[in-house]
Parts: sequence; C-alpha cells; structure tokens
Amino acid sequence: MVKAVRVHQIGGPEVLTYEDIEVPSPGHGEVRIRQHAVGLNFIDTYFRTGLYKAPALPFIAGNEASGEVISTGPGVTNFHPGDRVAYYFNLGAYTSERNIPAEKLVKLPDMISYEQGAVLMLKGLTVFYLLHKTFKVEPGHRVLIHAAAGGIGLLACQWAKALGANVIGTVGSREKAELALSNGCDHVILYNEEDFVAQVKQISRNELCDVVYDGVGKTTFPGSLSCLRPRGLFVSFGNASGPVPPFSLQELNNHGSLFATRPKLNDYIPTRHELLEGADTLFSAVISGKLHVPIHHAYALKDAQKAHHDLESRVTVGASILRP
Ligand SMILES: NC(=O)c1ccc[n+]([C@@H]2O[C@H](COP(=O)([O-])OP(=O)(O)OC[C@H]3O[C@@H](n4cnc5c(N)ncnc54)[C@H](OP(=O)(O)O)[C@@H]3O)[C@@H](O)[C@H]2O)c1
Repeated sequence: MVKAVRVHQIGGPEVLTYEDIEVPSPGHGEVRIRQHAVGLNFIDTYFRTGLYKAPALPFIAGNEASGEVISTGPGVTNFHPGDRVAYYFNLGAYTSERNIPAEKLVKLPDMISYEQGAVLMLKGLTVFYLLHKTFKVEPGHRVLIHAAAGGIGLLACQWAKALGANVIGTVGSREKAELALSNGCDHVILYNEEDFVAQVKQISRNELCDVVYDGVGKTTFPGSLSCLRPRGLFVSFGNASGPVPPFSLQELNNHGSLFATRPKLNDYIPTRHELLEGADTLFSAVISGKLHVPIHHAYALKDAQKAHHDLESRVTVGASILRP
C-alpha cells in the first residue's frame, strides 16, 4: 500500500482525500518511482473542480513530480533503479509511489534538486515554450506577464528578462510586487488597486506591448487586448480567475489586427525528442544561474487540502511542493 490523494467527486479542496492505494508492478514500458517531491499547480485545482475533465472518477490528483526509480517493467532499457527522474504527466502525481511510462521521464542532472525537478517539468517547460515557441521573446520586446509573482510568473519574468525583454508584471499585493521586481520585472502594476491598462500605456508611453502572457483569464480580459500594440499577440494560457468569456473575433480587429492563441504544453512538447530538448534547455538555464528556482512553500502530501486552499486564495508565491 502507498499513500495518495484522490478525488472521488469534484468540488472544493475538501474533496482531496488522503488514503491508501495499491500500486501494481510496473507494466510493459513502465517505471516505478518513489516520489520525493510533487509540484503544486493551479491546473490541479481545475481537475478538482471539474473545469478540466478527468477521464474517470476517482482519480489521483497532480501533474508533475520527481523521485527515484525503484524498479522497471519489461522493455525498459534506459532507466535503472536509483536513477533520479522527474516528469509532467496528466494526473496521478499526488502519491508516494507510482508507475509511469518511461518515455515521460527525464533524468535529473546532479545540480538540480528533487524539489526543483518537481516544479520545473510542468511550470518550467510551460515557460520555456511560451517564451521560445508561442512567441519568440527577443531583446527589446516589451512583454506583459500577469500574476508575475506566481509559480509560472516568477520563472517567466526571470527568463524573459534574461532574453533581453522589457518586462511588465501585474501582481495582487505589495509583497508580491517586491518579489516580482527582484525576479526580472522592470515595472510592476498592482492590478487590484490600479487600472493596469492605463499603467501599461503610461509605462510604455503608449507604445504598448508586443505580447501579453495571461494566465489569469476572466478578470484581465478584455484589458489584456488593450495592452497590445497593433499586430501584437495575446497568449491566453490559463484561467486562475475563471475562463475568458466567449468573444467576437471583431475584437481583435478593433484592438489593432491582433493575434490570439490559447496554447497548452502537450501540443508544444508532443514527442520525446522535444521533451528532452526542452528539459535540456531548462536545466541549462537553471545550472547557469539564468533561472533561480527556490521553493517558496512546502506542504506534507496529507495537507493537500490546505495547499489548494492557499493557492486558490492567492496566499502562495512562486513554486510550491507537496512532500509525500
Ligand atoms: N497552458 C499551459 O500550458 C499551462 C501550463 C501550466 C500552467 N498554466 C496556467 O498558468 C497559470 C499559473 O499557474 P500556477 O500554477 O503558476 O499558479 P500561480 O500563478 O502560482 O497562482 C495563480 C495566481 O493567479 C493570480 N490570480 C488572479 N486572480 C485570481 C483568482 N481569482 N483566484 C486565484 N488566483 C488569482 C494570483 O496572483 P495575484 O495575487 O498576484 O493576482 C495567484 O497567485 C494558471 O492559469 C495555469 O492554469 C498553463
């Protein structure tokens, strides 16, 4: 028996149930890992509330983690007991041990801790594709990053700055503003107190932004469109405040022939080759000091309810983990 956090019915944090489960021997192509750290993600809350549909109930929550290989199934040749590994994978991460297809794992370099590995695979790879593939950030670009002090936000601000961008971030409190400023933001806007569109116009002297990275959704729409220069790109990559409401394509025309996209990680990392390439770029950025990845909050796995409560209450900053 191993410990896991399962969801038997969708709902609030209280539906996260810490319980014993059986894990069978790893099947063909699978690896069994003992997990050392599990990444906490806003996406975990979407599956819990039903905004994103899990394939079946009950399901084990969670989408990224790290650990050590303890056994391998038939057909696995590239992983061995004792290997340090990390992954992102749809569901199943809130557990002390699990089986997972070997093709989803990457080996962790010695200089990357289990804790960092557990928060880099989903959050870090998302920032990698958003800044390098969805829109290729280059020196001189002006970028707006909402929720700049969040898990994705702090990584995105650091990396965008390292790529030479002028970074504007929005945050929900003065403490978060300090953190965002020390993690790559050139300007920070308190979007609960200030009109962020007016602030972006002022900061940019009405030149506006080349790209807006918006993981907040409902409450920052349609303001995000007003922050873009003609032919700029609106990247709507999440719904922390709720989904962006349906809108007319004419809005993109009205705001200056804008482009808009709603990307997701699986579509940008569709092959093992791209997974390894993305992880390599990401780990190199961390090892070279371009990206700092501290763990801001650590919860016991059994306290997953509190972790979700804190995340949804905007109490957390940066990256958080659950310890199995
Ligand atoms: N598309 C993809 O491939 C992909 C992959 C991973 C994550 N994501 C998205 O990235 C976003 C950030 O994820 P994360 O795990 O790093 O979370 P996070 O940013 O650490 O937490 C969400 C933040 O959103 C802000 N927020 C604004 N309105 C909110 C509201 N009504 N309720 C709660 N929070 C609100 C809060 O920051 P302030 O207090 O500063 O406003 C909060 O800290 C999420 O939307 C997630 O879905 C997308």
